[in-house]
Amino acid sequence: MRENIVLCGFMGCGKTTIARRLSRLTYRNFIDIDKYIQHQTKMSVSDIFRIYGEPVFRNMEHEVCGKFRHRASKIIATGGGTVTFERNVKALKAGGLIVLLDLPLEQLQERLAYDKKRPLLQVPNRNEVIEELYNSRIDIYRSVADVTVNAGQGIDYVALELMKKTGIL
Ligand code: S3P
Repeated sequence: MRENIVLCGFMGCGKTTIARRLSRLTYRNFIDIDKYIQHQTKMSVSDIFRIYGEPVFRNMEHEVCGKFRHRASKIIATGGGTVTFERNVKALKAGGLIVLLDLPLEQLQERLAYDKKRPLLQVPNRNEVIEELYNSRIDIYRSVADVTVNAGQGIDYVALELMKKTGIL
């Protein structure tokens, strides 16, 4: 089995979209950690946050990361907060390469302006919250990433660049 390709980055950077495209291009299995949790719990991420609170979600997220600590040729889309926890990075790095989908703050704010699903963004001062979270996370994303790809391009272009940079082309 070859190493997993683990996509990380801020909400709205395109992790799920790029992972799905990559999976199609490489015939590798695709796993989205949020969708995996939703499928297992039969609840939306928003409902998990609302009913049980964020720490419970983070524990679920960590449990899922643990399932991918081995090389299994998978394409894995994380959630925006996943790799900000060292325990998750440890598990995910054991099984593969971490790729940061990099996008400037202003573009993320634009992409997330009308989001209705992400529980952390359902606040009146959304742009400020995004900025604060982004500033608290960007250095972590950069330090855990084995490879960084500019996510501000077309889906196929990003996917191809990622394949070249990770050597899975
Ligand atoms: C989160 C990002 C979300 C989801 C949850 C928490 C975060 O995933 O895991 O709402 O902490 O940034 P996306 O990055 O796929 O939106």
